[in-house]
Amino acid sequence: MGKSGATSSLPNAQRKLPTEPFALHFPLFAAGKIAETEAVSSPTLSPSARPSPRFEDLRGILRYVPQFRQRVFVIAIDGALIERPGFSSLLQDVAVLQSLNIEVVLVFGARSQIRQLAAQRKISLSNDDGMGRTDADSLDVAVDAITRQSSALMAALTALEVPVAVTNALSVHPAGVINGIDQEFTGRVERVDVESLRACFKADILPLLPPLGYDGKGTTRRLNSDAVAAEVGIALRAAKVIFVSESGLHRNGQRIPQLTIQDARELAREQATTDVNLLSKLRYGALACSATVPRVHIVDGTQEEALLAELFSNEGVGTMIHADDYHQIRPAREGDIPALMAMLQQSIDDAALVPRSAADIRDNLPDFFVLQVDGNPIGSVAVHTHTVTGAPPTAEIACLFVSRSHKNCGHGRRLVTFAEDTARLRGCQQIIALSTQAFRFFEEKLDYHTAAPEILPPSRREAYEHSARNSKILRKDLSAASNLPPPSA
Ligand SMILES: CC(C)(COP(=O)(O)OP(=O)(O)OC[C@H]1O[C@@H](n2cnc3c(N)ncnc32)[C@H](O)[C@@H]1OP(=O)(O)O)[C@@H](O)C(=O)NCCC(=O)NCCS
Repeated sequence: MGKSGATSSLPNAQRKLPTEPFALHFPLFAAGKIAETEAVSSPTLSPSARPSPRFEDLRGILRYVPQFRQRVFVIAIDGALIERPGFSSLLQDVAVLQSLNIEVVLVFGARSQIRQLAAQRKISLSNDDGMGRTDADSLDVAVDAITRQSSALMAALTALEVPVAVTNALSVHPAGVINGIDQEFTGRVERVDVESLRACFKADILPLLPPLGYDGKGTTRRLNSDAVAAEVGIALRAAKVIFVSESGLHRNGQRIPQLTIQDARELAREQATTDVNLLSKLRYGALACSATVPRVHIVDGTQEEALLAELFSNEGVGTMIHADDYHQIRPAREGDIPALMAMLQQSIDDAALVPRSAADIRDNLPDFFVLQVDGNPIGSVAVHTHTVTGAPPTAEIACLFVSRSHKNCGHGRRLVTFAEDTARLRGCQQIIALSTQAFRFFEEKLDYHTAAPEILPPSRREAYEHSARNSKILRKDLSAASNLPPPSA
């Protein structure tokens, strides 16, 4: 970027961003570096004197801001971290996220405090993390420790000028009898009051959720905080659930940067770590991810700036559990045809999709792919290939559909990206889509450009003109390399 670009973009960025929390806590804005940044924006400074890496850092961070804005992040903090010296910095990082218009829900654990209080009272706990049986004495200790914790967090957040409210957004029921053992006062989340949490976001209030809930009979129940974070993340369709843990996840001394849901489940099953705290995060992380949450992060909260570094850098510093799209998007099978027909009918009625019979789909079954979430088909895409003598084949995206209940979660973009990768594997150098109602989606979200009918392969052009649908023709050049691994399909 030239000098004038740099000088004009920075003041805008500063207006949008809350300089206070960044200055407090993000290295780029740390006291000494702010001065450098201001000097850079001076029109008298020569381009060679610009400390460009600072702008690179800033761009790197700002790149993420639009995609995170008004997305829900559920952050679950382990109780042990609350007593550590760096804890106020961690809360400042939470405040930074909220000030970037990210809708943050804060969940906290209290295992460490419960243990300490039980030791003081000389009580032997039936359970300290809300995963096993909670007897009456253990509940008593848990309620006291969690209430104190809540109060300490309210005080700390208030000192950071973050409006905060402890919310009772969970309906719980008794965990019941598991393996023949009555779990007594342990609870399970039955429902999340999404409306009350959204009301907090609307009022710029940070909802704070303790690992306690109340059942229909007014009995207090002990909950596991990781389970609370997962359930709240699922109910709010959060973009992320972030477990800020007492330690990070490692294998053979190396940080595990990424895990698929299957990997996370396997590690939890194999008890790959002896840390029960991390096992619970693997388990609930996989649960959240296999439902509606696309990304779950486990970060080591004892590391300075781990939360922001995980979110605002490509490499991250923790472990990310992600839904494995290529296992979710799979080739359609004959048995999917009735579900596909039922799903597509509304869009066919709305004239967004070309009418198709079951026989049409059956005849072209290898071109069809189904997106399934938790085993249920919720979307589809077809990739047709048009061969042209003496030229590379052209791929066409068709039958792109995401069910109403799962719209706006990124599935449409995922399906198109999958179609593009499939097209590349088939040797296509361009991909087209003919759309009457979703052309802006292709242009604005996926970098397609409108094109003239002349770019269509001859046989396709004939069908296009014959159909009289007057669809817009969208095209994308596929010669640029894909960032994605090849589909396993
Ligand atoms: C088009 C469709 C596949 C998008 O699926 P999706 O899973 O909701 O898409 P994503 O979650 O990846 O993207 C959502 C974003 O695209 C935008 N978008 C979705 N459909 C759009 C449309 N028809 N026109 C313009 N923008 C659209 C949303 O507003 C949202 O924007 P935001 O991220 O700024 O909030 C889905 O709406 C659909 O099935 N439509 C009916 C069938 C159809 O038209 N298919 C295309 C045939 S070519």
